[in-house]
Amino acid sequence: MPTTTPDLATTHDTIARFERFVIGNYRRFPVCLVRGEGSEIWDAEGNCYLDFFPGWGCNLLGHCPPRIVEAVREQVGMLIHVPNTWYMGPQGDLAQALSERSFGGQCFFCNSGAEANEAAIKLARAHGHAQGRFKIITMEGGFHGRTYASLTATAQPKYHVGFEPMVPGFEYVPYDDLEAVTRAIDDQTAAVMVEPIQGEGGVRMPSPGYLAGLRRICDEQGVLLILDEVQTGMGRTGTWFAYEHEGATPDILTCAKALAGGVAAGVMIARPEVAAVLKPGMHASTFGGNPIACRAALAAVETIEAEGLLERAIAIGERFRGHFERIRSRHPALVRDIRVKGVMIGLELDRDATFVVDACLKRGLLVNVTHGNVIRLLPALTIRDDQIDHGCSILADVLPSASLPN
Ligand SMILES: Cc1ncc(COP(=O)(O)O)c(C=O)c1O
Repeated sequence: MPTTTPDLATTHDTIARFERFVIGNYRRFPVCLVRGEGSEIWDAEGNCYLDFFPGWGCNLLGHCPPRIVEAVREQVGMLIHVPNTWYMGPQGDLAQALSERSFGGQCFFCNSGAEANEAAIKLARAHGHAQGRFKIITMEGGFHGRTYASLTATAQPKYHVGFEPMVPGFEYVPYDDLEAVTRAIDDQTAAVMVEPIQGEGGVRMPSPGYLAGLRRICDEQGVLLILDEVQTGMGRTGTWFAYEHEGATPDILTCAKALAGGVAAGVMIARPEVAAVLKPGMHASTFGGNPIACRAALAAVETIEAEGLLERAIAIGERFRGHFERIRSRHPALVRDIRVKGVMIGLELDRDATFVVDACLKRGLLVNVTHGNVIRLLPALTIRDDQIDHGCSILADVLPSASLPN
């Protein structure tokens, strides 16, 4: 029986075990990570990497942030899990903390972004049920998760292939197009669902006024506005939630990824009048709102406030922007666009950028590429300036090789 803990096994042994026993539904780098601290992470052979994409956006406070480690350690010795048939302090505390930092809504807790969106879609349908409103309008290029309803909401056909038929009742319109939304709404529409910034879709930022425009249209048409802040939420863009930049308060908001500083957690926050349609038995999650995840999320809130990290998000983003502007001035044809909102950062190239990931990995830097030509960085709010400068110098070295003909 193999019981070797990953940090004692070599990368080679671990890969061999994965090949036999783990379903191959992920493309993985041939690196086994064992330990992290802040924006640095080490593999089984002791190599250190600078992480510009910690935890796919989940480790917004870096790896193993001390307050979260401490809160989880304490909680795990008190109570690991109790079902939602009981009251538990940390869940109530977290609901209050999130409600007070957003729009006074009520919370439903789950474990991931897809589950939070699933809950939002169900709530929107339950809310519109009596009026025959069930349709959900979502945006082309968006990403909402891999469960059936959230996958159907994800208006990118490549993710649907092989899984059809999809869930009925979804309609897709172009992102950043208010007129298209107005045209698509009819008396069967329950909700409009959108990411304030499309993350997986290439760090796409809509025109100023887009979210406020959606809010206005939804109000005029009696339709709910669902904001998927799974990636943008919890301070990433310099405010607790990205909707605050335009004051476009949603009826339902979903958040996950960074919610609990890397511990699995998701939440749907809904206006109390909307939330009221969910009665006991209509929706549930066994692990949702468990005390460990809630203590971790409370520690994340405390860390962000105690360390002034909302303000720091803006400063970090601007430091990255400065580096990328210098790269663009040296390679104007190569860099098509620089998109920065706090620590949500996209550098769009004029060509396929996938080579950048491997080239950076070889130099000890972890980055992501999405949509083929967008280098996506979701650095931690705790990253130091010297780490930003070092990683950007690696990018500056690596990028010119892209100017060779493909
Ligand atoms: C905006 C958005 N919504 C939903 C999801 C799905 O989250 P999860 O993978 O936790 O289910 C993601 C994941 O990348 C996302 O970026």
